[in-house]
Amino acid sequence: MQEIATSRVIIVGAGLGALYAALQMAPRPVVMISPETLGEGASSAWAQGGVAAAMDAADSPAAHAADTMRAGAGTVDRAVAETVTRAARDHIVQLTGLGTPFDRRPDGGYVLSREAAHSFSRVVRVRGDQAGAEIMKALVAQVRAAPSIEVLEGVMATALELSGGRVTGVRVESARAASGPVLLRGPAVLLAGGGSGGLYALTTNPPRIRGQVIGMAARAGAVIADPEFVQFHPTAIDVGEDPAPLATEALRGEGAVLVNRRGERFMTAIHPDAELAPRDVVARAIFAQTRAGLRPMLDTRQAIGARIVTQFPAVAAACARNGIDPVTQPIPVAAAAHYHMGGIDTDIHGRASLDGLWVCGEASSTGLHGANRLASNGLLEALVYARFCALDIGAALGDPPAPDPAPKIGFPPGDRWPDAAVIRTLRQVMTEHVGVIRDARGLKIALAEIARLERTQAGAESFADMTATATLIAAAALLREESRGAHSRADFPQTDAMAARTRITLKRALAVRDAVCEELK
Ligand code: SIN
Repeated sequence: MQEIATSRVIIVGAGLGALYAALQMAPRPVVMISPETLGEGASSAWAQGGVAAAMDAADSPAAHAADTMRAGAGTVDRAVAETVTRAARDHIVQLTGLGTPFDRRPDGGYVLSREAAHSFSRVVRVRGDQAGAEIMKALVAQVRAAPSIEVLEGVMATALELSGGRVTGVRVESARAASGPVLLRGPAVLLAGGGSGGLYALTTNPPRIRGQVIGMAARAGAVIADPEFVQFHPTAIDVGEDPAPLATEALRGEGAVLVNRRGERFMTAIHPDAELAPRDVVARAIFAQTRAGLRPMLDTRQAIGARIVTQFPAVAAACARNGIDPVTQPIPVAAAAHYHMGGIDTDIHGRASLDGLWVCGEASSTGLHGANRLASNGLLEALVYARFCALDIGAALGDPPAPDPAPKIGFPPGDRWPDAAVIRTLRQVMTEHVGVIRDARGLKIALAEIARLERTQAGAESFADMTATATLIAAAALLREESRGAHSRADFPQTDAMAARTRITLKRALAVRDAVCEELK
């Protein structure tokens, strides 16, 4: 295999965490691995809500941390929640300085949206639902102008290289067509390549986000935390698009209500906070309405009316291209895989369990989100941990070297491209059996099916990354014999008194899978 050595830190991914970490590390030379043209294909750019931060004088990081812990259903790490919420303001100020045009009031204060399970309006936003896109635009411009940052576009990482238990590089392939691998060796690797929503048939995540980064770390032996905790967003717009467009929770923060085809406002009977109940509660209610054939819908007409067109342009555009006029019609919605609370286990510095490896953003599991992430804490966590990782990598590597040229990769020919039909089947299996409501029977069927699909794609490393993550989610979901937050077991509806996070390796998850395959033979 062709090998290229670089003195640059290797950053896998090109979303918010990756861009921000690259900027935080400057002038240390870095090379970013971006499967798409920079700024495209990352979940961060699709985030509609914004960044949660206690910016109002009457709000506080302590209240934000308390909401984070309450929503997280017992498994949020308090120290992490307090650290992250305390740091939030500083990152908003920094993003503003980097050119993000956050919505401002005439007195200069930030316009703050209300989202579910927040006791305060504290989501910093851009033109209603444009926060992710505008933050990414500002950071991409900064990255393009930074002399310390090189970006390899159209390249995807498929595996980590280890020497003596330490991560020493990344195997990469072309992201555009089948190719052979090339080994890129560097002094440190930062994984910031997103979550796993696209492992599900119904998802709000961009098409390429299918758990590959978590899977590649797991395949290298990294400890994975809480993989069973997958968040389903209650209001994906249900119009048959893949991925499903999002109708941001901020709409419900503005008073939009959920109704079914009979016109019933069903959330009022389920939770005192009705539409602003924690996301897992609303997602299960939507799922139940869908399953009962009651066609849940988000009705923005009275609360928002014609303002939806100017104040929530992404939602209005998604409706328009599907023939829905939200000013006069309710918007059909469904629960869709949206965010992975679980991921690569990281400490407070963003270090993974393998030497030489750091992680930030959705690929990580820091302990902030517990079993149910508080809305708009995802982008916040990516920002805070991107800086922690940058600082810790700096401390570990010492003075930055003089930049060497961008690695020039010429991919050898290869035929290891996973079959699109097999990926489709994997996604259907995950939605059907590892989705909003789970039970042992379905999880076992899923594990056996994942194993079967994996065997059909031997040699396609990116597919092995996907099935590694799928296996971890399903195996940990089978092992967690309780319901907690987003993990809901029909056969174990109770919540155990002892709340504990999951720590699991792929080896253990595969042992569970093997035992299930044996049992189902
Ligand atoms: C939303 O805007 O509803 C999503 C925000 C988030 O997932 O944090």
